[in-house]
Amino acid sequence: MVDEVLIKRLALDIVKARRVVALTGAGVSTESGIPDFRGPRGLWKKYDPKDFTYSAFLRNPRRYWELRLQRKRDGFVVLGAKPNSAHYALARLEKLRKLHCIITQNVDGLHQEAGSSRVIEFHGNSRWAVCIRCGERYPMVEVEERAERGELPPTCKSCGGVLKPEIVMFEEPIPMDALIVAREEAKNCDLMLVIGTSAVVYPAAELPKIAKMYGAEVVEINNEPTPLTGIVSDYMLEGRVGEILPKVVAEVEDLLRKEGKI
Ligand code: APR
Repeated sequence: MVDEVLIKRLALDIVKARRVVALTGAGVSTESGIPDFRGPRGLWKKYDPKDFTYSAFLRNPRRYWELRLQRKRDGFVVLGAKPNSAHYALARLEKLRKLHCIITQNVDGLHQEAGSSRVIEFHGNSRWAVCIRCGERYPMVEVEERAERGELPPTCKSCGGVLKPEIVMFEEPIPMDALIVAREEAKNCDLMLVIGTSAVVYPAAELPKIAKMYGAEVVEINNEPTPLTGIVSDYMLEGRVGEILPKVVAEVEDLLRKEGKI
């Protein structure tokens, strides 16, 4: 059962804050049916992350796409998933002008689909595939269909180059614009919500530390402690994000209504 006192405390902190930023991870999308990576039924419990690095992709793009189709057959599906109550709660917080932006490690596009408009995609977006030779982009739905019909690896219609999901694979750099903007947002916020991430993958996991270094309060929402807990984060709401976030936002609305601000 979530701690109602902490729900009220976080709502007060959000209302008082000048600039709130959220860092989200796979834990925000598990209630949309997308497994996370390191939780009890996470992707890396079933597949070897070494098969999904950029060098593994370049060494054997056919095998990468075969494994990707296998993951889909095993139920690790991103395309077609729908936002859950956690995504909608964060979109509502932005509408209430109490969430400046979301920095997400997720590649599912569900924050935008739920209505969030300022989303920094730190690890790219799996709804597109890109040619590694000429940079032409294709909708992933179309590319996965071609791969399922046997075109392995799928190739660029313009130059014949190999297509790659437009996500940041291990060993790849974070897109420079996302990295620079995310670091600035971490420096300039006075409250960072760290939601549904194990905080073990860098450089995303440095963002809460940057926020802390620049004087922000850092609050985690997760169903388990992380390396940030009790060290970087000021407190943690332990439980399901799909239950906690709507309660926090309802409390924020209540406070704003009492202040005559909505
Ligand atoms: N409610 C609250 N917490 C949850 C929920 C939920 N419904 N579901 C999962 N979690 C928690 C898990 O306990 C875990 O602490 O969310 C966290 C998810 O951690 P990871 O699976 O490691 O996902 P993430 O932190 O986003 O991974 C970062 O690693 O593999 C790479 O590129 C990939 O972006 C990903 C990066």
